[in-house]
Amino acid sequence: IERTLSIIKPDATKRNLTGKINAKFEEAGLRIVAQKRIRLTKEQAGKFYEVHKERPFYDELCEFMASGPVVVQVLEGENAVAKNREVMGATNPADAAEGTIRKEFALSVGENSVHGSDSAENAAKEIAFFFSDLEIVG
Ligand code: GTP
Ligand code: MG
Repeated sequence: IERTLSIIKPDATKRNLTGKINAKFEEAGLRIVAQKRIRLTKEQAGKFYEVHKERPFYDELCEFMASGPVVVQVLEGENAVAKNREVMGATNPADAAEGTIRKEFALSVGENSVHGSDSAENAAKEIAFFFSDLEIVG
């Protein structure tokens, strides 16, 4: 059994889509074992996305992630990292498969509704960034 970090981004919380997105995770067999709604500062967003520091969209990305509430969550299941990325769909909604979260809800490559860890190693780091062990109930 594996865990991954998911973030429902400001474009989605603004449009009241938290429940619809969570239903997609649950339908795919992912269990939400931790969840909280928070507002990130631009500095916190910058620290979370530090791996993208050199990318041209870094500043825009950090501004966006701090522009409204986000829902951070831990998803648990068989191959949770890969399964979540499948449910999310491609980064750019124009390339995302039918039925995926980004196909249905994302507005653009930047405002793409969800984040999901891209490896088990990064998932462990990203989960620890937001949650203590006591906050995760499997
Ligand atoms: P995450 O799950 O959010 O990490 O998405 P990803 O793994 O599908 O994409 P990637 O890690 O390559 O990029 C991280 C995030 O940066 C994306 O989810 C987008 O929100 C944003 N991003 C990526 N490419 C672009 C771009 O060309 N323009 C803008 N504005 N944002 C981008
Ligand atoms: Mg990524």
